[in-house]
Amino acid sequence: MSRGAAQQIVIRDLKSIDDLSQLKAVEKEVWGMADDDTLPLTLAIACKAAGNIFVGAFDKEKLVGFAFGFLGREHGQTTIHSHMLAVLDAYRHLDLGSRLKQAQRERAMAMGVHEMTWTFDPLQSRNAHFNLSKLGVVSDTYKVDFYGPETSSILHRNGTDRLWVRWILNSRRVRDRLAGRLAGKDARAETLDALRLLAPLVRFDPSGKPGRADLAESLARQRVSIEIPGDILEIERADMGLAREWRDATRWAFREAMKAGFFVAEFCRSIRGQQGPGAYLLQRGTVSEFIPEG
Ligand SMILES: CC(C)(COP(=O)(O)OP(=O)(O)OC[C@H]1O[C@@H](n2cnc3c(N)ncnc32)[C@H](O)[C@@H]1OP(=O)(O)O)[C@@H](O)C(=O)NCCC(=O)NCCS
Repeated sequence: MSRGAAQQIVIRDLKSIDDLSQLKAVEKEVWGMADDDTLPLTLAIACKAAGNIFVGAFDKEKLVGFAFGFLGREHGQTTIHSHMLAVLDAYRHLDLGSRLKQAQRERAMAMGVHEMTWTFDPLQSRNAHFNLSKLGVVSDTYKVDFYGPETSSILHRNGTDRLWVRWILNSRRVRDRLAGRLAGKDARAETLDALRLLAPLVRFDPSGKPGRADLAESLARQRVSIEIPGDILEIERADMGLAREWRDATRWAFREAMKAGFFVAEFCRSIRGQQGPGAYLLQRGTVSEFIPEG
């Protein structure tokens, strides 16, 4: 599908039981889940009726992507926790993921909610770019095997470690990223410059393996970087042992850095050319100092 044709895809709330019953097919295609791991239809109906957010991308009547978030309570504040976001393979890279997140954000803000949270696998470069660069999330929490050591999903073969991300909905950072404003692009150029000057805590070695740097030396700085491969799913297919080495090394790096007072501020998807590894930029400090709301 072309970008022009993708404009015909309508983003709207899922309303009827027929709409909600299409979720399972998308979940099964995107995550390759067993039936037991998909959202039960009765639970979806009840969540929707109780005011939680289901937005879908529709190609005529067919559901081709969706975002589902439920109300949460974190640090004394009501949040939306976005449990699932998916776009069918044939409809990807057309901004539908971003359009779904924008629709979810509008609905959350209309409910008076200021922050959305969700999780993603920090080894997935695509999701890191989507979440940090396009949407402007940040993260100060790392969860080890969040869903347990494995699930039936094809995307959960290498454990289920997750970064817990925070999307501060009305922050300048998020508004700029969504509008694709210069501030966002400048921030990206600045990130790349910063990353090029840093000695990474985990480095993508020329052999394709993760190389670890000295912890005390790296964490003595104000900023630190963590590199990841450009396509971890390809590595999982070719060499599961190597994929696990990447999990162990990055788990070590994120946890140690967060323990020492760093949070994840940015991601750059190619630091040494088009197909190369990407890198996270972590900064010393707190999210609330970094992103004042409003
Ligand atoms: C994540 C997902 C919803 C994105 O949907 P989408 O409609 O393709 O999203 P968009 O088109 O708005 O943005 C995708 C971005 O990822 C980029 N991308 C794709 N593959 C990439 C890779 N290997 N590394 C880095 N970026 C990548 C695209 O270029 C695009 O960015 P750009 O517009 O700046 O060029 C979709 O890939 C998906 O369903 N993935 C599987 C389920 C999943 O992981 N869900 C959790 C999401 S947190």
